[in-house]
Amino acid sequence: MNRQTIISALCCLPLTVVGQVTMNIDLNDRGPTMSDYQYGIFYEEINHAGEGGLYAEMVCDRSFEGGERENGVWTTVGSADTARVSEGLLNNAQRHAMRFTATHPMSGIANRGFWGMSVERDSIYELTFWATKGAFTAQLQSADGSLTFASAEVKQGERRGEWRKYSATLKANASCNDARLALLARKAGRYTVDVVSLFPGTFRNRPNGLRRDLAERLAGLHPTFVRFPGGCYVEGVNSYDEAFQWKRTLGPIEERPGHQNRNWNYWVSDGMGYHEFLQLCDDLNAAPLFVINVGLGHEYQIPVDSIDWLIEDALDAIEYANGDLTTRWGKERAKNGHPEPFNLKFIEIGNENYQADARIHSQQYAERYIKFYKAIKERYPELTTIGNVDSWGHDNPVWRNLHPVEMVDEHYYRWHTWMRENYRKYDNRMRNFLIYNGEYAANGEGKALPTMESAVGEAIYMMGMERNADICRMASFAPIFMNVNDPRWKYDMIYYDSQGHWVTPSYYVQQMMAENVGRQVLRWTESGNSATVDSATAVVVKSPQWLYQSVTVNDDARTVYLKIANPNDREVSLEVNWSNVVPLSCELTTLSAPTPEATNSMEQPEAVSPRSFSYEKFPDKLKIKPYSVNVFRVRF
Ligand code: AHR
Repeated sequence: MNRQTIISALCCLPLTVVGQVTMNIDLNDRGPTMSDYQYGIFYEEINHAGEGGLYAEMVCDRSFEGGERENGVWTTVGSADTARVSEGLLNNAQRHAMRFTATHPMSGIANRGFWGMSVERDSIYELTFWATKGAFTAQLQSADGSLTFASAEVKQGERRGEWRKYSATLKANASCNDARLALLARKAGRYTVDVVSLFPGTFRNRPNGLRRDLAERLAGLHPTFVRFPGGCYVEGVNSYDEAFQWKRTLGPIEERPGHQNRNWNYWVSDGMGYHEFLQLCDDLNAAPLFVINVGLGHEYQIPVDSIDWLIEDALDAIEYANGDLTTRWGKERAKNGHPEPFNLKFIEIGNENYQADARIHSQQYAERYIKFYKAIKERYPELTTIGNVDSWGHDNPVWRNLHPVEMVDEHYYRWHTWMRENYRKYDNRMRNFLIYNGEYAANGEGKALPTMESAVGEAIYMMGMERNADICRMASFAPIFMNVNDPRWKYDMIYYDSQGHWVTPSYYVQQMMAENVGRQVLRWTESGNSATVDSATAVVVKSPQWLYQSVTVNDDARTVYLKIANPNDREVSLEVNWSNVVPLSCELTTLSAPTPEATNSMEQPEAVSPRSFSYEKFPDKLKIKPYSVNVFRVRF
């Protein structure tokens, strides 16, 4: 037999335990203290993360301002004609309203929501809209209108000039995943309506709030901070006009103009605005991290000598979040329902605006950065500012100027193999600034789908950050959300339609890491961890190490968090020696899968999900499963 034949034959044999790793852990051999903000989340309006996602609004294109992609969400019911009009509007925030002519009673318009509304039996839905006149009936119907699940006469309320606010409560008598909302005029006639909004019960019952199942998933990640609103979404395309502008996102929903999300190509109502982001942070007990536009976006730049107003805008945003009630923007926050400050903690100056490559405008980043930095630190020295470094194509970006910087934001969309090869990436980094891994995922730049293999890669990379917790102070996976009906960036963590959702193995890795941070790094020594050759079979294995680890300890040294990832296709033996101490009990949370390609889906949402075990005594010999991420909470 030649060598290839031997290898092939051996590959057919059942894989046995071949790795034999020993770790020696000394509770007194302490490394750096972990950050209070080690793991957080990055929320961006991408893939309908908010609109048709986390933001619980069920009506798509509620203000009749949408573009091509929203065409067809509004249809007629019964005998009616429609036209979008641009005169006689409710206010200056609106550019269009819907005029419909009903030639018969009980005719009107219907909205199918975001790829079909989902209504649940016995659930309550709150409807509001504005109209110039009329008596209406609102109904929740099946997509073709043949079934009615709820019907209510709409009440008239507040009056503003020609316009009146209408409202109704709809209680569904059946469940349907492809429902629509119908607004029917009780008499024939011509009607003008605008800002039609329908909400289910929301997370923490907040008005204008968030979808419960998705917000609960965010809470399940125990984020210590939330980075928002982007991402490219902060930058906009072609001009600043259609970038996220926080001041346009405040107040009653009818006063928000909304904007075209040019980066990810769909209309955004801005219903989930700056205030709602801050409220989300509050509800998650997470520190807000706000990313500001420095006048550099995709395909445009605002001249550096004309950005003073943008700096003022950033200072106003901070005042809105943190100012007391004597300040202009603090008062505005109170008016919007939150008198207490939101405690904005981090400000990121730009997003991905400092490439060393040919993107010419990046060369202007440093001079902008320092203007923002000085203005912010002068007025708010307690805030932590974050600078940009090369985001694409560099594995070890550096701060390429002499300006002071507290922390830099590095982004890595790479293959899972890169993630494990970079486990030691930060071991030899210069320690002259702190690092925030603001966006990362083992996805090969958005092309691959999330699997167990990618989740293991991400876990290993995170363990590498923990080993270097003195400089790696914060991290957030990206992107989080994707509505399956309109994928823009395919590799995400939480997938959904209007009815339900599922999470990937990456979600569980994020959760396991965040739940088991610990207070201080513990150093260890090891042997037997080189896996380039399988000594039993002479087969070269793919991973340079059998196992990848991180060890941390809590404040009173009563719990050690031992994290172990095995990216290999075979089980590995692990023996842990504890210097001078005897562990008591131990709990294990483990995420594993039979194949590297394994993942979850809407049909099998829990195919790969963590399992927990308790041991009365820490096991002398451990067997670490193939393709697994494990967290041992060892009690002393
Ligand atoms: O997370 C998706 C995108 O990747 C972000 O908008 C951007 O910052 C990065 O390029």
